[in-house]
Amino acid sequence: MQSPVEINSNTKIVGVIGHPIKHTLSPVMHNYAFNKLKLDFVYLPFNISSTELKDSLKGMIALGIKGFNVTIPHKERIVEYMDELSDSAKIVGAVNTVVNDNGTLIGYNTDVNGIINTLEEFKNEINGKTVSVLGAGGAARSVIYTLINHFNVKRINIINRTVEKAESLKDYFSSKMLFEKIKIYELIPPDVTEILAKSKLIINASSIGMSPEDDDSPTTIPESFNKNQIVFDIVYNPRKTVFLTLANEQGALTINGLKMFVAQGAKSFELWTGETMPTDQILELLSEE
Ligand SMILES: NC(=O)c1ccc[n+]([C@@H]2O[C@H](COP(=O)([O-])OP(=O)(O)OC[C@H]3O[C@@H](n4cnc5c(N)ncnc54)[C@H](OP(=O)(O)O)[C@@H]3O)[C@@H](O)[C@H]2O)c1
Repeated sequence: MQSPVEINSNTKIVGVIGHPIKHTLSPVMHNYAFNKLKLDFVYLPFNISSTELKDSLKGMIALGIKGFNVTIPHKERIVEYMDELSDSAKIVGAVNTVVNDNGTLIGYNTDVNGIINTLEEFKNEINGKTVSVLGAGGAARSVIYTLINHFNVKRINIINRTVEKAESLKDYFSSKMLFEKIKIYELIPPDVTEILAKSKLIINASSIGMSPEDDDSPTTIPESFNKNQIVFDIVYNPRKTVFLTLANEQGALTINGLKMFVAQGAKSFELWTGETMPTDQILELLSEE
């Protein structure tokens, strides 16, 4: 791995805030791209707890940090602290990228770009079909918005551990996007097996399985999957989760979160630098890591 460009007093700082933050691959991706394009930027991870969120934003402005990504668990709560929001961030209700425009914090949602980029080749197959989304956090919001806005799906099942959170998402998208075809289920694997099996597309947008040490899966019941399905796990580290392995064994077409990760990062990169990230090289690099 190449080290970041030589740091000097002009070097512009960007980064990511989240908690926990140790599994993020964003610093590797962005610093590699800065290096490749010889941009005088450096990307740093900041471990920020929920109680520190508001103060950390003042710190970002005071230190002249040019922008940052936002990850678990801040994507939804940070919305209230933004001075301006992009159209998609406003509707989604979650921000994953912030631009600091001389003290004005502008929130964007580039996860939406990542989801479109990943699923675009399956657009015709998904159109008019039922999709099951596991999870009801910030990532699930972006997924549901994109499924309604871009992929014209027929019905969405939201399956989550905390049913109340899924219900509030259903109400949210019903009022914001006038989409009424959402059904809610509690994540009890035996109870949702048939629901999953009948879905054309299943998306794990929960954080289950999100670290190489985490071998948990939203379900371990093989009958949840079949060969007619597309199964997308937005987790990108590890590349092959237990969830995807199981779906793959049942003949489903499986997709991990790496392409989404690189595409959302590329959009953030463009917002901060005005330049195009070398995404093919980065995908190759991260696939090998
Ligand atoms: N590939 C990419 O580019 C990309 C982009 C964005 C996010 N992601 C990944 O997406 C995942 C979710 O991110 P997020 O921002 O939406 O997180 P979040 O807002 O914290 O939401 C986490 C979701 O996971 C559920 N969950 C967590 N632990 C669970 C467990 N042990 N059992 C059952 N449900 C559990 C939560 O359920 P409750 O509501 O019951 O708490 C909630 O629905 C993360 O793994 C993140 O890395 C990937």
